[in-house]
Amino acid sequence: MLVNGRPYRSIWFDSDVQEVQIIDQTLLPHHFEIRSVQSLADMAEAIRAMRVRGAPLIGVSAAFGLYLALRENPVDLDTPIAILIATRPTAVNLAWAMNAARLLLSGLPVAERAQGALQFALQLAEQDVATCEAIGTQGCNLLEQLWQARGATSEPLQILTHCNAGWLATVDWGTALSVIYKAQARGIPLHVWVDETRPRNQGAFLTTWELQQQGIDNTLIADNTGGHLMQHGLVDLCLVGSDRTTASGDVCNKIGTYLKALAARDNNIPFYVALPVSTIDFELHDGVREIPIEQRDADEVLRMTGLDADGVRRTISLSHIDARAGNYSFDVTPARLVTALITEQGVIPAEAAAIATLKP
Ligand code: MRU
Repeated sequence: MLVNGRPYRSIWFDSDVQEVQIIDQTLLPHHFEIRSVQSLADMAEAIRAMRVRGAPLIGVSAAFGLYLALRENPVDLDTPIAILIATRPTAVNLAWAMNAARLLLSGLPVAERAQGALQFALQLAEQDVATCEAIGTQGCNLLEQLWQARGATSEPLQILTHCNAGWLATVDWGTALSVIYKAQARGIPLHVWVDETRPRNQGAFLTTWELQQQGIDNTLIADNTGGHLMQHGLVDLCLVGSDRTTASGDVCNKIGTYLKALAARDNNIPFYVALPVSTIDFELHDGVREIPIEQRDADEVLRMTGLDADGVRRTISLSHIDARAGNYSFDVTPARLVTALITEQGVIPAEAAAIATLKP
């Protein structure tokens, strides 16, 4: 996708210098900075600190991290895989990518492992791009139907999204936002309500920036605004991503997603979830009980970083100095609240029988 009119991906391998490059997402939207990741420790830190984030991108980043580890020491496959899997617990793509890598690389002679890991990471990245573009096409057909049903007027379809499910959360295109990018290209008029998504503010910092860069009309709203907008007929559909989806269709996504789904149901507004099949955990059936929810540092709730009036980046405290905070990063939206899942293979109901047909 575009940054100041120039195409970028969120991660890539620079073969001239043999380095993995990422966009440091902790500095956006104020600074656009490319960072070189040179070791396993660097990549583990980048995932933990959310320099790279979003379920599919975490999986691809871990695959590159494994390559960086194996080019230093190709004998030990288990330690780097364990380190990478431990970086973030909720998004299933990470474990999925590492298990696939283990299967492939354990069958290779030690001398070929680093090269094998690089090829695996490059392939995974390409596959992610194709998958996300296909999600966009599938979802765009759905938006077109909604728009046609409304008379295909120039009145924009009003979409509410939560967190960042855009190209920054994947290698390119995104999941929920891929649908929006494809719909824009098809000439469907759109406006996006962007939840700020406290405490990490992925909506405020990343989604508004992404949409702006692609020329998509959007408005940032405080997290608790969605219910009010829905009651007043200002939202046509909700469209979010997923970090892990169970075999029964429960969807785990950024904290606050569940409340949007409840408000959508109460107001008879469709609630769609866009996801690659790689975020389905076919082993799990009860999302609320079985999906591990990441709890992050309380500081993320207690402090905020941004630019001051002089354009200097500063972190400020929001609460009383002794305030305590809980920082639950994700929640689970039960399948009964999900209108449909938009996958690269088609739009399906959030039901076990339909999901089972996607099992590789
Ligand atoms: O904590 P993050 O920023 O990694 O969370 C990202 C999300 O919750 C996205 O909505 C999710 O990864 C699905 S979009 C690819």
